Amino acid sequence: MLVVYFSSVTENTRRFVDKLGLPSARIPLQKSSPELVVDEPYVLVCPTYGGGASISHQNSKPVPPQVVRFLNNQHNRSLIRAVVAGGNSNFGSDFGKAGDVISAKLKVPYVYRYELMGNEEDVEVLRLGLVDNADALGLVP
Ligand SMILES: Cc1cc2nc3c(=O)[nH]c(=O)nc-3n(C[C@H](O)[C@H](O)[C@H](O)COP(=O)(O)O)c2cc1C
Repeated sequence: MLVVYFSSVTENTRRFVDKLGLPSARIPLQKSSPELVVDEPYVLVCPTYGGGASISHQNSKPVPPQVVRFLNNQHNRSLIRAVVAGGNSNFGSDFGKAGDVISAKLKVPYVYRYELMGNEEDVEVLRLGLVDNADALGLVP
């Protein structure tokens, strides 16, 4: 089981993923860093950066460009099995919207939504959910 994630300089997602205690790989922040290429099925953990698109109509791209680039690699895209999204509930109906977009586009289940770096319950619920359903989700290589 592999967790692939992106996290900006605020590192909320990195902290959440660290607490899961599962094998993980990070999508690089800088374009100049070597591209991440994965070789096994994974669950993607992605923060939302749409800026409340539904309300402001200013930015309709809640998925960070680094994640879009990673998924534009057909090999990487073929191995995604589920998506988890982070966000901030202050954004109302756009809370965790990156997960809706990725799920609809890549036809994978949106299995969990959490706020900022997640709390203890988020960590436990998601970890157990992934471990217990690894086979059903296709997360076992
Ligand atoms: C510019 C900006 C736009 C954001 N837009 C949204 C949004 O549309 N929906 C949402 O749920 N969270 C939104 N967030 C909150 C982030 O998803 C949240 O802070 C997340 O934990 C950041 O993860 P990171 O520190 O790993 O990058 C936004 C945050 C910023 C700074």
